Amino acid sequence: MKRAKLWPMFALLVCVAFGGWSGFAVFSAVAGEKEQVFAAGSFEDPEVCARCHRDIYQEWSHSMHAYAWDNQWFRADYEQAHRETGGATDMLCGPCHAPVAARTGQLPPHDGSEFDAVSQRGVSCDFCHTVTGLEQVYNMGHVSEPGRVKRGPRGDGREMYHAVEFSELHTRAEFCGSCHQVIHPATGVAIIDTYQDWQNNEYGQKNIRCQDCHMTPTPGVGQRRGRAATMGENRSNVAFHAFSGGSVYVQEFLGHREQARMAREMLRAAAVVELSPRVTNDATLELTVDVRNVGAGHKIPTGVTYIRKMWLQVEVLNGAGEKVYSSGHLVEGNHVDPEAVFFRLLFVDEQGELTGKSWRAQGIGYDRRIAANSSEREVYRIGLPARSDYTINTRLMYRSFSQATIERLEGILDKALPPLGSVEMAKATAKVSY
Ligand code: HEC
Ligand code: HEC
Ligand code: HEC
Ligand code: HEC
Ligand code: HEC
Repeated sequence: MKRAKLWPMFALLVCVAFGGWSGFAVFSAVAGEKEQVFAAGSFEDPEVCARCHRDIYQEWSHSMHAYAWDNQWFRADYEQAHRETGGATDMLCGPCHAPVAARTGQLPPHDGSEFDAVSQRGVSCDFCHTVTGLEQVYNMGHVSEPGRVKRGPRGDGREMYHAVEFSELHTRAEFCGSCHQVIHPATGVAIIDTYQDWQNNEYGQKNIRCQDCHMTPTPGVGQRRGRAATMGENRSNVAFHAFSGGSVYVQEFLGHREQARMAREMLRAAAVVELSPRVTNDATLELTVDVRNVGAGHKIPTGVTYIRKMWLQVEVLNGAGEKVYSSGHLVEGNHVDPEAVFFRLLFVDEQGELTGKSWRAQGIGYDRRIAANSSEREVYRIGLPARSDYTINTRLMYRSFSQATIERLEGILDKALPPLGSVEMAKATAKVSY
């Protein structure tokens, strides 16, 4: 059996390439050997699986995993990385977003021009279910053995079209972590830290897995009864394959209303906002806002937080309903008030500037996120203009992209992207009089 051991080699070479920005000729030469790559067609088309695994196929085909490659927001960012690094990032980004292409020698070239139909379908059934091991829990360390044996959480099902084998790995968070943990190969900066964060928090310690929350139909730890295949056994819990996260904006654009609804529910299940207002002797409203992560097994936001945005919106209205204070509302050009309180992460680049370009990350420049089962506190001091009864409205907001990122990606695509909206994750209201 061939074992896909590409990554360590790439890591080294990408290092070289990133270091000098020009070492990439060496990189391409060695990558060209493709020694761990399987023949084209080695991984099966998800349409084949759909014949018996109808529900699972339906769920997966509307998941972000199915769009990991065929996703214009990703593609623009990937293209910019390619241009700015002379192609050094191709085999970093590619293997996670188009694993079948990377494993069948269709990547490079980076633009997907050699992809067959299966490679187009992102993180698909046969990639995940033919994994036999992990070499590292970051930067896609999966070991593949494509073929007749499909590996999963049971191994006791009827063998019809394929053989089934129990795989403990598929029941573990590490299986996800190998892609949901991205380390910059040259600088060592954690680009995505979802897995390590989980591993070190209470969820990780209690082994409440990614699968428990993201492979069930509702937020929180859930289950669903049913059959995993048309001719399969009736089970008390069948793994749900929608992998919902926060991608309301992209899902709405794709016309996946049910997925968009589930994503909204995930975002709403993640956090609560609590207010403790107090008016001081000098007519100042001292507003303490606590944002608590009650539902996510990792920080919020997590993942590519450097292109996403989470922030607080606060408004204070007087008895006549007039706004006397506001923070975190939209300003011109669909941007968020730059003075708002933001929960996100940004990198610093070579010039010491804050950046959302992952490939330029030399270090972490800004990191304010809300850890699992913890809260972040912000105190607002607001001068009250006159005696009145005041209403305070606070909302925790989420966007899949910052407006600045959308504009950067539009520049690469040379076309407009769908208008960016915001999702309310939580809200709280209070009243004070003075
Ligand atoms: C001809 C029907 C058929 C086709 C086609 C099919 N499967 Fe299956 N598969 C089954 C049946 C039946 C089971 C057993 C389900 C049960 O009893 O829970 C199963 C079980 C599985 C399991 C569960 C393994 C475990 O843990 O027990 C996985 C994973 C799986 N199939 C993956 C795939 C993939 C990937 C494809 C497409 C490449 C595919 N199947 C195509 C019928 C099929
Ligand atoms: C206790 C339940 C729970 C566990 C355990 C959990 N998550 Fe989440 N996850 C959530 C919720 C709720 C959200 C929605 C909030 C958000 O998007 O930040 C979320 C969001 C996400 C997102 C989308 C982030 C974004 O906004 O782009 C990713 C990716 C993700 N989780 C991956 C994982 C991985 C990988 C693991 C395991 C290492 C994991 N999750 C464990 C509940 C959980
Ligand atoms: C991102 C990787 C990934 C993808 C893509 C994926 N699966 Fe799975 N699948 C898993 C994991 C992990 C489990 C086990 C979850 C658990 O332990 O709770 C699983 C479980 C299953 C099971 C067993 C369900 C049960 O509970 O008995 C079947 C059958 C299955 N998958 C088929 C498919 C098919 C068909 C597709 C494509 C339409 C697919 N999977 C796509 C990771 C994946
Ligand atoms: C082969 C790499 C790979 C594996 C394995 C993998 N993922 Fe992902 N996952 C991705 C990529 C890439 C994306 C982003 C796709 C996009 O938005 O274009 C993603 C996105 C997600 C999202 C975000 C969805 C949203 O709405 O924003 C969740 C949740 C998620 N994965 C959960 C999981 C869980 C749980 C597992 C393990 C059972 C897992 N993933 C395994 C690569 C992987
Ligand atoms: C080790 C696997 C891995 C590597 C390497 C990787 N990504 Fe990702 N990428 C992910 C996962 C997992 C997500 C989903 C996280 C989330 O939803 O927040 C993601 C999400 C994204 C998204 C957001 C897509 C969306 O629909 O919102 C963009 C853009 C992106 N990646 C760009 C890149 C670029 C550019 C590179 C290379 C410089 C890269 N990624 C390398 C795993 C990876």
